[in-house]
Amino acid sequence: MEILQVNNLCKTYGKGETQVNALRNVSFSLEKGAFCAVIGESGSGKSTLLNCIGALDTPTSGEIRIDGHNLFTLKEKERTIFRRRNIGFIFQSFQLVAELTVEQNIIFPLLLDYCKPDPAVVEEILEILGLENRRRHLPNQLSGGQQQRVAIGRALITRPKLILADEPTGNLDSRNSQEVLDLLVKASRQYQQTILMITHNNALAASTDKVLRVADGCLYDDCQSNPKNTTGKGALYRDEKLS
Ligand SMILES: Nc1ncnc2c1ncn2[C@@H]1O[C@H](COP(=O)(O)OP(=O)(O)OP(=O)(O)O)[C@@H](O)[C@H]1O
Ligand SMILES: [Mg+2]
Repeated sequence: MEILQVNNLCKTYGKGETQVNALRNVSFSLEKGAFCAVIGESGSGKSTLLNCIGALDTPTSGEIRIDGHNLFTLKEKERTIFRRRNIGFIFQSFQLVAELTVEQNIIFPLLLDYCKPDPAVVEEILEILGLENRRRHLPNQLSGGQQQRVAIGRALITRPKLILADEPTGNLDSRNSQEVLDLLVKASRQYQQTILMITHNNALAASTDKVLRVADGCLYDDCQSNPKNTTGKGALYRDEKLS
């Protein structure tokens, strides 16, 4: 079952001399439970792609479907609610609420949706993340790796179908990077969540199911570089560009 479908996506910033074609006719899809890495040089369009898929940015043209719902034909308010319930975000800079504890940060998306957190689910997430004995700490009392684990917990709590991670290990050392990756792999396996993760770390990219490479706004399938991880249930690439 396809969770994400991206069809002929284009994003152009600015006009005239300052115009940038950040995404050029990008098409691909991801199956439920796939863990896909997005790689590419700085400025190639990776974050633009993720931000459009997460409805944090508006495409110039093209279509994005998440679990069959056309993201940009939803009304703005519906889109905000849809995003909150179906998409989890993890950013390089963690983006935790400084005044809230670990536990409060994790349940924050539920509170925004007026939902009561299930204590058993909160416990399970704290345990998976190894944060049981940090639950009442504030973000500035945690290491970088611990803060990123809180951000992962916040992305997992609503059990979103799709997790978008923009360089989640960009501020972490190699040991913490591997831990974060292991947690994401666990999530995609245990909860059948689909993950799209931008990374500059080739070793991390190599341990995902599928690698998509962005170069100058175009998307290329690098599955040949990941033959060992081709599980058959990973991403399906439709619009392969070879030149
Ligand atoms: N708000 C904006 N206005 C104008 N141009 C933008 C805007 N956001 C991004 N761009 C341009 O779009 C292109 C793609 O940017 P993007 O942030 O997607 O790159 P990236 O691949 O994520 O790079 P990095 O690895 O450095 O994070 C770049 O040339 C950038 O200058
Ligand atoms: Mg970026």
